Amino acid sequence: MDSLIINGGASLKGQVKVSGAKNAILPIMAASILSSSQVVLSGVPDLEDIKVMSEALTVLGAKIKRERDSLIIDSRHIRSCEIPEEISRKMRASNLVMGALLARFGSAKVAYPGGCAIGSRPIDLHLKGFNNLGYRVWEKGGFMIGDGRPKNGREILLDFPSVGATENLIMAASTVPGTTIIRNAAREPEIIDLQNFLNRMGAKIKGAGLDSIRVDGVSSFGGINHVVIPDRIEAGTFMVAAAITRGDVFIENVAKEHIQPLVYKLREIGVEIMLSSTGIRVMGSKCFRPADFKTMPYPGFPTDMQPQTMALLSTIEGTSIVVETIFENRYMHVPELRRMGADIKIEGRVAIIKGQETLEGACVEASDLRAGAALILAGLFAKGRTEITSVRHIDRGYENIHLKLNSLGADIQRRQ
Ligand code: UD1
Repeated sequence: MDSLIINGGASLKGQVKVSGAKNAILPIMAASILSSSQVVLSGVPDLEDIKVMSEALTVLGAKIKRERDSLIIDSRHIRSCEIPEEISRKMRASNLVMGALLARFGSAKVAYPGGCAIGSRPIDLHLKGFNNLGYRVWEKGGFMIGDGRPKNGREILLDFPSVGATENLIMAASTVPGTTIIRNAAREPEIIDLQNFLNRMGAKIKGAGLDSIRVDGVSSFGGINHVVIPDRIEAGTFMVAAAITRGDVFIENVAKEHIQPLVYKLREIGVEIMLSSTGIRVMGSKCFRPADFKTMPYPGFPTDMQPQTMALLSTIEGTSIVVETIFENRYMHVPELRRMGADIKIEGRVAIIKGQETLEGACVEASDLRAGAALILAGLFAKGRTEITSVRHIDRGYENIHLKLNSLGADIQRRQ
C-alpha cells in the first residue's frame, strides 16, 4: 500500500492551481443519467471517487470516456437501474444515482452504502424525501428499492439540510409534473452547480443556494458541455498549507465567494489573505492567534476543512476550541496528530487544542480523506520525517497533492 514520506520544514512559495470540485462532479455525474444525449464535463480531476462513480454509471449501461480533464458521458443506452453492493460499498455518494434513476425510469435499486469512518451517515432523509415526493421507496436485503411515477409535485421539508438528500430530491423531482418545493434545503455551492447543470440540460429549477428550492418538472433533457466549479476544499487545503508553513502562495482557480467562512477564520488567526480577480494570495506570519470555531452547514464553517484547520491550530500558541456539529466521529486525525506532539483533548464533539511551538515527524495513518489532508499539513510543519500510510483515502479527493505541494517547495515522496 502506498505511503507519503514528508520531510518537513519548508516554507511553501509559488503558485498552484485548484482542480474541479469533487463534490460537484459526483452529483452532476449522477444527474447525467437523465440526459438523452451526450454530456461533456470539463475540469474533472483524476480521483478515486470519480472512478467509482464512473464504474456505477457504466454498470447501469452508460458509456464513459476520459479525454484529458474532460469526461464524456453518454447515458442513452442505460438499461439497468441497479447498483450492486460491491460498488455502493466503495463510496457513499453512489446513492446519488437513486434520484436520477427514479426520475428517468420510475425505478431504482441501489445497495446501501457501507458505514464510514467519520460517522454512521444514515440515508433516512433521502428515503423519507423520496416517499414524500410520491415515489415508493423501501429497504430490503441491503438495498434501497424504489418505484413510481408521482403525478404532482409536492412540498417537502427536510429535517436537516443534508447536502446529498437535497441533491437527490432535486434530481428525483426534475421529471415530476407540476411544482415541487424543497424546504430547509442545503445551500452548498455544489448544489448551485447541480442546478445550473440540470437547467442547461432543460430542467426548470430555481433557488439553489437558498433554503427553499423550486423544481418544475420537465419531460426531457438534452446534452451539454459543462465546466465544473473549482474545489473549495482543495483551495482551503492549500490556504492552510501556506499558513502552516508560514509561506506565501498564490492559489488560482478559486471561487472567492465559496471560501468566505475559511477566509474569515484564517484572517482571525492572523493569516494574510489578498483576494484578486485571478485568485488568492495567502501569507503566513510569525504572530498567529488561537481561534475557536464550530462546523455548520454552508455558509458556516465547512466540516471538510475542520481537520486541516485543527492541524494549523495545533501549531499556534494558546488554546483553541473546535466543535464538530455535522459528523459524530470526525476526530480520527486527533490520535495521529498527538503522535506528532500535538496537545488535543476530545470531550464529545468538542476538541480543546493547546498549540505547540513544534511538532515532530512520526509514522501516522490517514483514516479518511480530510484527516489525511490534515496529516500532510502537520507533516509539512513538523521537524523531520513523517510517513503517512493508507494514502488511498487521500486519493479519493486530491489529485496528485504531493506533486502540487512539491511544486511549491515541499519535500514529499510517494512510495509503493
Ligand atoms: C456531503 C459531502 C461531504 C461533506 C458533507 C457535509 C459530497 C459527495 N459529500 O456529504 O464531503 O462532508 O456533505 O458538508 O458532497 N444525515 C442523516 N440522514 C441522511 C443524510 C444525512 O442523518 O439521510 C446526516 C449525516 O449523517 C451527517 C449530516 O446529516 O451527520 C450531514 O450529512 P450530508 O449533508 O447529507 O452529507 P453528505 O451529502 O453525505
